[in-house]
Amino acid sequence: MAQYARGSAVAVIRLRNPPVNALSLAVLQALEDGLKKADADPSVKAVMICGENGKFSAGADIRGFSSPKRHGLGLGPIVSLIESCQKPVVAAIEGVALGGGLEVALGCHYRIAHVKARMGLPEVTIGLLPGAEGTQRLPRLIGVPAALDMITTGKHIPATEALKLGLVDEIVEENTIEAAIRLANKVIGQPLGPRRLSLKPVPKLPNMEAFLQEAAVKVKKQARGCLAPELCFQAVRAATETPFAQGVRRERELFQVLLSSGQARALQYAFFAERAVHRWATPTGASWSSAAPQPVRRAAVIGLGTMGRGIVTSLVKANIPVVALEQDLEYLNKGRKAVMLLLEREAVKMEGGAQSLDFHNPARLQFTVDFDLLHDVDLVIEAVFENMALKKEIFHKLSKICKPGALLCTNTSALNIDEIASATSRPQQVIGTHFFSPAHVMRLLEIIYGRHTSPTAIATAMQLAKALKKVGVVVGNCFGFVGNRMMFPYVEQAVFLLEEGSRPEAVDRVVEDFGFKIGPFRMSDLAGLDVGWRSRQGQGLTGPSLPAGTAARQRQGQRYSPLPDLLCEHGRFGQKTARGWYRYERAGGRTATPDPWLHSFLAQYRDTHGIKTRFIDQEEILERCLFSLINEGFAILAEGIASGPEHLDVIYVNGYGWPKHTGGPMFYASIVGLPRVLAKLQKYSEAHPDVPRLRPNAFLKKLVAAGNPPLKDWMSYVSRQSPKL
Ligand code: 3HC
Ligand code: NAI
Repeated sequence: MAQYARGSAVAVIRLRNPPVNALSLAVLQALEDGLKKADADPSVKAVMICGENGKFSAGADIRGFSSPKRHGLGLGPIVSLIESCQKPVVAAIEGVALGGGLEVALGCHYRIAHVKARMGLPEVTIGLLPGAEGTQRLPRLIGVPAALDMITTGKHIPATEALKLGLVDEIVEENTIEAAIRLANKVIGQPLGPRRLSLKPVPKLPNMEAFLQEAAVKVKKQARGCLAPELCFQAVRAATETPFAQGVRRERELFQVLLSSGQARALQYAFFAERAVHRWATPTGASWSSAAPQPVRRAAVIGLGTMGRGIVTSLVKANIPVVALEQDLEYLNKGRKAVMLLLEREAVKMEGGAQSLDFHNPARLQFTVDFDLLHDVDLVIEAVFENMALKKEIFHKLSKICKPGALLCTNTSALNIDEIASATSRPQQVIGTHFFSPAHVMRLLEIIYGRHTSPTAIATAMQLAKALKKVGVVVGNCFGFVGNRMMFPYVEQAVFLLEEGSRPEAVDRVVEDFGFKIGPFRMSDLAGLDVGWRSRQGQGLTGPSLPAGTAARQRQGQRYSPLPDLLCEHGRFGQKTARGWYRYERAGGRTATPDPWLHSFLAQYRDTHGIKTRFIDQEEILERCLFSLINEGFAILAEGIASGPEHLDVIYVNGYGWPKHTGGPMFYASIVGLPRVLAKLQKYSEAHPDVPRLRPNAFLKKLVAAGNPPLKDWMSYVSRQSPKL
């Protein structure tokens, strides 16, 4: 609703729809009624629009886009109505003015914002464009380069930046509403023409066409198959080429194209999925609604290698004092340098610079080799080598040294949380916090509870994720947890495709064209082939512990590819050795070039093993990689390792570079259609009977037999007795 009140000469219209004052149909109707009333009332001389509860508005009601009744376009005419009002209208922006909310403010003649307010047009992030004339008004107000940047990235900008750009007229530190009423009183009677953005020309650039051409290339490159940024660009371009009314018509056409695209649906699903995972639950009945987190006032990180340094950086950025511990002084000095470098870089990006992070202050960041210094921390994150014996030794030590309530977290990427917890006297406080590399950048935090992990521990880890500005996803304990477990079949298929006739660059191309940031072979070169090699050696799949006489391409009756092991035996560890699935300009180089050596190596390998090279088309590459991953996802759901498909999708979008505009693997499967996924898996499984991961999962079959129910209903088909936890 929008509440109308009249005090003195200024009528107040307050947008009210908790929690974020989304512009539902009811709010729009009340806003329109309020405006008409104010215009008609001769005692009203000016109007002020604000939002309830310290928030202006987060824009159109996103849930409304899927209803056939309204498509967000009702807002445009109301923004025009605001602008054409014969009395000055002032927007008082507190909290957020996003999307349609900012478009309402752009219709106002004046904008005043609280210093802590944030503004933006984030429609692009949910697959849309600002459809209430925002693509036409914003460039007229702040110029094409700044408007294009805001509209195509969807970024939120702070009030201070908005003031610099001319997006707001004034910022205040105290009461925004009172300041807006003062401003409204002050401007009564002043001409409104110059304040109506639709009447202003778009500011010219000396080289507009060249600028637009360059921007178009950049937007396309960054979009990686996502439609919305390109259509946002086209709408802004229309503002530079046509009069306002014509630009608005173009904006509407483009908005409709996006609205009916599957991508908008997928991105809106992803928006709500990210919020749904906050409400975690475990099969034993623990949940977010009853568990309270413990405060984390001080933390420690053990191991300052690739992961530990990023984790320390993340904690410092979140203002949590950290003790950073290494095994000896040599490693400590190396780790300290690396952390300092990361923090210096982060400080440059932040407002307030190094001072705001205060990382030279030992009370905030302390480096040590002394475990005793961990006696009073609230939480420890262990990030040492992936070795069970070492992890157990460390957890045993921690359980003796740390204070009784301290949470003990491990960053293991696959090991058994229960086994690690068994080395302590307090397994209820042991939990997996699986960060992704680089840990200070990647948004995902997979949170793994063990058999004994307490609800308080889970709630504390979730709270930590929030403090670090990450998205925490609670999952159960199994080898590889959710993300890596689903990744194994995908990588396995990619390698099998090479055995059968494909090339790394062909597989990567197909997967990257689908929208992944990076294909499996580039990824493997980046992460280092030696990591997986060591793990397989540990599992006895390769190396000296492999029993003599084991068939080269079989392990325990299943197909196995020794290709990655052979590459490692040739010293090809990926980027770090300048050779892997590709070759690189130098050790540590980033530019992957297809390698003729590898091509002839593959040909020779096929000869040796009597494999007939065949042409593998793009469809097969994509389906075998993605559907095998999805198949594992169904197994995870059936076992109760994750409480819903949204969890898997949030993990994949935020931790594995899965293209967000397809929603995530499970949403994508629902769009492809489960019967098709099943039929294809059946076909590939028949062709490769020795690959168990291609065999369609029973839960997938069950859903197909149940008539392909919508994704939101899938979990009601999980057998209650099946959770393994
Ligand atoms: N519509 C419907 N629900 C919304 C919403 C919206 N625009 N924005 C937020 N919500 C809901 C969330 O789903 C959540 O619901 P829940 O409690 O049931 O899970 C609740 O409001 C609170 O949201 P958050 O958990 O995200 O709260 P935060 O404080 O972390 O963030 C926010 C607040 C920054 C406003 C964030 O919610 C956000 O970014 N919202 C989306 C903004 C957006 O994309 N606006 C554009 C809409 S499209 C549009 O305006 C089209 C127009 O151009 C025609
Ligand atoms: P790394 O080898 O880069 O660093 C490990 C660090 O631990 C080294 O600096 C080492 O000196 C230190 N260390 C070893 N023993 C120690 C001890 N007793 N006391 C204190 N410090 C000790 O390893 P990386 O890649 O950072 O991995 C760490 C953990 O994170 C592993 O469990 C790994 O599986 C996991 N992980 C790794 C990811 C990656 O992309 N590298 C991603 C997600 C998880």
